[in-house]
Amino acid sequence: MKALFLALLIMGGTAQAAQLEVQLNGGQRSWSSSELLGHPQARDIQIDEDVSYKQPMRYRAVPMSALLDGVNAGDHLQAVALDGFAAELPAATLLAREGAKAWLAIEDPQHPWPPLAKGKPSAGPFYLVWTDPAASQIGPEQWPFQVAQIRQLAAVEQRFPALLPAADASAEVRTGFALYQKNCMACHRLNGAGDSEFGPDLNIPHNPTEYFTGDFLRQYIRNPQSLRRWPQGRMPGFTQQVLSEQELTELIAYLAHMADIRDQRSESQ
Ligand code: HEC
Repeated sequence: MKALFLALLIMGGTAQAAQLEVQLNGGQRSWSSSELLGHPQARDIQIDEDVSYKQPMRYRAVPMSALLDGVNAGDHLQAVALDGFAAELPAATLLAREGAKAWLAIEDPQHPWPPLAKGKPSAGPFYLVWTDPAASQIGPEQWPFQVAQIRQLAAVEQRFPALLPAADASAEVRTGFALYQKNCMACHRLNGAGDSEFGPDLNIPHNPTEYFTGDFLRQYIRNPQSLRRWPQGRMPGFTQQVLSEQELTELIAYLAHMADIRDQRSESQ
């Protein structure tokens, strides 16, 4: 009985088109897969190095700019996935006419995409992909898959003051903060601040710079499974192409700084 119910659910899932919620300051709208597949700007695109499938892929896709009416380059957006992953996306990169170009790939319920791994679901129903990503240094965390919602929000600094470095923080720490937003925030919170529910908080109760000795934190970020291995580990490794040695130093400087000022901030309270 249970199995039958499940089978019906799954069948219902494939027959029914998915919905994408787009919440902009100018208004909210919901797009069905078929509306997007039939969008006048929909194209077939080729992605040579697909970050999620790790192979060349072809998609039916709509330019992101076509879905962002009224959004300006200075605005800020967030793509929320079904599993709680929340990618922070400056609108400027999504709207850019030069360099990397952002597309929303749409899974056709009649022709589903392959699973992301054996026994896993596909990257659908909606997947943010980029043509020419290197031209604008688009990192792997800017390829959110299984997207359910795209929403316009205030910038990270305004939404989460608890993430801000001290006013007199070094340039290194500030760059590290930008790298944190780009690479880590999609999965982690820090000081309880962030929208993701995926990975552990990186400052409360303790900051990894406090309990990883020597080079172990660098090693962990490069390849988490090289330090502690278990089958369900979900943190990806960050290669030199994604975070250079210098950027990794800057990122860790930000984390260490946040540990320092955490204690100062709580003492002054
Ligand atoms: C795709 C999601 C994801 C991204 C992106 C991500 N992490 Fe993680 N991270 C996790 C998860 C989940 C864990 C818990 C361990 C696991 O399942 O792999 C984790 C664990 C960690 C830990 C270990 C904490 C502990 O005490 O065991 C550290 C340190 C860490 N992440 C730092 C980072 C930094 C720094 C970045 C950005 C460069 C980052 N993570 C990006 C998902 C992510």
